[in-house]
Order: sequence, then structure tokens, then C-alpha cells
Amino acid sequence: MRDASEGKRNSTEHGLLKTALVLLTVAVTLVVWGVKSDAKWIDSEGQNRGKTTESERQTDVNAQRMLDDGKQTFRFDTFGDEAFWSDALQLHRAIAGAQNGGVGPGVSPKTALAVGLKVDADALPESLIQQIRHGRVNLDDPATTLALLKLNAVVGVKGTFNGEGLQSIGITCALCHSTVDNSFAPGIGRRLDGWANRDLNVGVIASLSPNLKPVADLLGVDEATVRTVLQSWGPGKFDAELFLDGKAFRPDGKSAATLIPPAFGLAGVNLHTWTGWGSVTHWNAFVANLEMHGQGTFYDPRLNDPVKFPIAARAGFGNVRSNPDLITAKLPALQFYQLAIPAPNAPAGSFDPAAAARGAALFKDQAKCATCHVPPIYTEPGWNMHTPEEVGVDDFQAKRSPDERYRTSPLKGLWTHQKGGFYHDGRFATLRDVVEHYNSFLGTNLSEQQKSDLVEYLKSL
Ligand code: HEC
Ligand code: HEC
Repeated sequence: MRDASEGKRNSTEHGLLKTALVLLTVAVTLVVWGVKSDAKWIDSEGQNRGKTTESERQTDVNAQRMLDDGKQTFRFDTFGDEAFWSDALQLHRAIAGAQNGGVGPGVSPKTALAVGLKVDADALPESLIQQIRHGRVNLDDPATTLALLKLNAVVGVKGTFNGEGLQSIGITCALCHSTVDNSFAPGIGRRLDGWANRDLNVGVIASLSPNLKPVADLLGVDEATVRTVLQSWGPGKFDAELFLDGKAFRPDGKSAATLIPPAFGLAGVNLHTWTGWGSVTHWNAFVANLEMHGQGTFYDPRLNDPVKFPIAARAGFGNVRSNPDLITAKLPALQFYQLAIPAPNAPAGSFDPAAAARGAALFKDQAKCATCHVPPIYTEPGWNMHTPEEVGVDDFQAKRSPDERYRTSPLKGLWTHQKGGFYHDGRFATLRDVVEHYNSFLGTNLSEQQKSDLVEYLKSL
């Protein structure tokens, strides 16, 4: 017979067993759950920085999505600017040529490459690559250009086709801010997003348009004048301010166009463009609406100033509202992508490392460069703007912008855009010229050896 105490003991054991089972279940659940959410955060040095929480995981997913979407927009989005380049200017007809339903001789691949357009080799099927390699593709025939456009292989130019016919073209950010690595042939290779295309002759391309009346009307001049101005820009340059103030030439008679800057290495940089118009996303909205002529929304009441920006004030560029808006929703990812593009490292052998190391020391001390170009962002953290007097140049371009100053250029990747020169208008043909300018302007008394060391350092950034 079981006594009461035994029953009590039994029930105690039973209770313990139950508790143990519950604990075991909890433990197993925790382990399983732990394994499931065992996504580790490995940082760039390969260190395990601990497990990610759900919100961290969502941030990672979001970051990847923003990069993918931003890259897509940067490379391929025209924001509906076909309405300008094709419906208004008819540029697609000049590209196609009379033989292919357009007007004039058309643009052959040879001509396209000669005006600095680039071909994305990754968009070409292997059969075509082989044909080009064996010289079996007619690079003098505009029909070949149309075939390339159909493959979406012309960097920054997007064609829309109606059967075989080119119905319209639009331009994307990549037109000016990408190039290729020439791995297949000069002008044909893999995309390099963010690199300034200093071969691209935007003015000559735009001047091919059969109908420049919309631009002439905007500027209040005749079409011949517009053509002359466009052809005065030269390769690697564009004049974003022309469509605001109508100033096509500097007081010395030279073109008022500025160099296309790179769109990489911009993270941590406060103000953008040569004259610091605003943040990356401000400028993206500006360019997409006012320069590419996409359909979107843009607000910047600084443009309502009829003295400084007569064209913009008259055209209402300070407050643009298009319906539908094809731009605004793309701005977040577009900004994110640009901030993520690193400045590429200078290739080994392209500079002398020992001289560059000596130059780095000079940059920080004797040459006084780092007071403004603060490493590693090479611009000032904060309001990175200077009066023309502070850098020893004229105020023409500065005066065409709201703050009337020049922005301290971030210097990483200088080696990628040596063509066309340095400073906003390329006034210094080489880095050596830049160093000579600062040496006399800042009175830093560098020896010839020190100047060369500083140049080697600049080439290494
Ligand atoms: C027709 C050529 C052209 C196209 C197309 C173009 N840009 Fe630019 N971009 C320029 C030029 C020229 C400047 C310098 C403007 C200035 O300082 O006045 C510039 C400046 C910039 C800057 C500032 C870089 C810096 O150093 O701070 C960014 C960022 C930029 N563009 C992004 C874009 C994006 C994004 C697009 C597409 C929405 C785009 N650009 C389309 C020519 C172009
Ligand atoms: C007072 C601030 C200041 C100092 C000091 C300074 N810079 Fe600059 N730097 C600027 C500004 C502002 C610009 C842009 C000028 C323009 O756009 O015309 C610039 C532009 C440049 C550029 C051209 C970048 C490009 O993309 O074209 C180089 C190269 C450069 N600086 C190197 C140097 C070196 C080397 C020194 C030291 C010898 C130096 N800077 C000292 C403010 C400064």
C-alpha cells in the first residue's frame, strides 16, 4: 500500500519532471530559434560583430534593395525625358538617319565613339562580340548603332523601338557619370559607374538635334546661336547654369561650361557641385528635372531670383510640378547608390609610392592642403565652401550659384579624371599646374622635389 508520503514524493517527482520538460522545451526552442536567426554580422575586416536583430536584418535587406534600385535608376532611368530629347528636339531622328526613317546621315558607331559615347560590352551577345572581333560588323553604318541601342548597350542612352524603327531616345545619369574600362576596344568595355566621362562631347551630341527651337525659345536666342554655344563646350563639359542665367561665355570669351565631375567617393561630403548647390539628393532632383528634362517635382526658390537667374525665374524652374512624377520616388535609392560608389584605388605603378608618402606629409603640413582638403574625405567636414579669393581664382562661376563660392573638391580618384584638367573649368591642365598655382598663391615655397612629391601623392589618392 502506498502511503501518503510516497504519494507526495511521487507528485513532487512528477512536478520536477514536468518542470524539466518545460525547461527542455524552452531550451530546444531557444536553440532552434537561435540557429534560425544565426545570421552573423561580419564587418569589412572579417570580424564577427555579433548576431543581428530583426531590425538590423531589415536594415541589411533595405540597404541591398536601395543599392540595386539605385544602380538601376542611375544606369537606365530616363525619368520620361524622351519627351524633351525626342518629342521636342527629335534627336532620335538624327541618330537613325534618313536610311532608317530619320533625317540626315545618321550616327554610326564610329561617330558615336568619336563623340565619347561608350558601349557596354556586357550587354553584347557573344556572337556579336565575335563578329566585331573579326571585323564583320559595319561600324560606319547607323543601323549598327540602332542595333546597339536595341541591346541597351550604349551607356546612358536608352532607345525605345517601334518594331525596327527607333521611336525615341532618352538619356540617363550614366551618360555623363559613367565610362567603360576599354577592355574590349577603345570605348567598348565594362561599365565604370561614377567615373566622369571626359571624352563625352555633350554639346556636339545635343547640337545634332534637328529641332533646337525649344532650347532657343527658353534662352531667348535663335537656333544658330544655340548650336554655336553647344559646340563651344568641348569634350567632358556641360553647362548646367546656362539654362538658369543664359550666360554662355565667360568675360574672357571662353566657354562658360564646367567639367563633368565624378559621382563616386561622395559619402561624407556635405555640399555638391563645383559651386556647392546642395546635397547629392538636391542636385539629383535638380538635374533630373531641369537638365535631363525628366518629369518630376523640383522646388528651389533660390531660382526665382530674376537678376541672377533670369531664364530660370521666367521659366518657373524654382517650382516644377509634373504629373505623373517619374522622379521623386527614385531619389532615395539614387542617392544611396551614389554614396556607396567608392573612389577607385590608383593602379599600382601609376605613381611612385615613396614620393607619394613624402607628398602625404607635405599635404598635411608645409603645403597647407589638408586645412581644406581634410583626409580621408578631402573636403571640409561641415560647410565646405570658399570665396574665390580664398583659392585665388576669378568669381565668374561662383557668382552663377546661390552661395557665390567654390566647394572644396573631394580629391579621391583624381587619377581617373586627369583629361580635361582641374578646377571647375579645367583651367589647370595638369596636377603639376595645380600645385604650382597653390605654391605661388599660398606662398608655400616648395622645392621642385617637393612639388613632384605632392603630385605623386595626388595621383595616389
Ligand atoms: C549631361 C551631362 C550630365 C548628366 C546627364 C548628369 N550630370 Fe551630374 N553633373 C554634370 C556636371 C557638368 C556637373 C557639375 C555641375 C556644376 O558644378 O555646375 C554634375 C554634377 C553632379 C554631382 C555633383 C558631384 C560632386 O562633385 O559633388 C552629382 C552627385 C551628380 N552630378 C549626379 C548626377 C545624377 C544622379 C544624374 C542623373 C539624375 C546626373 N548627375 C546627370 C553632368 C551631368
Ligand atoms: C582654402 C581652401 C583650400 C586649400 C588650402 C587648398 N584647396 Fe584645393 N581646392 C579648394 C577648392 C575650393 C577647390 C575647387 C576650385 C574650383 O572648383 O575651381 C579646390 C580644388 C582642388 C583641386 C582640383 C580638383 C578637381 O577635381 O579638379 C585639386 C587637385 C586641389 N584642390 C589640390 C589641392 C592641393 C594639392 C592643395 C595644397 C597645395 C590645396 N588643394 C589647397 C580649396 C582649397
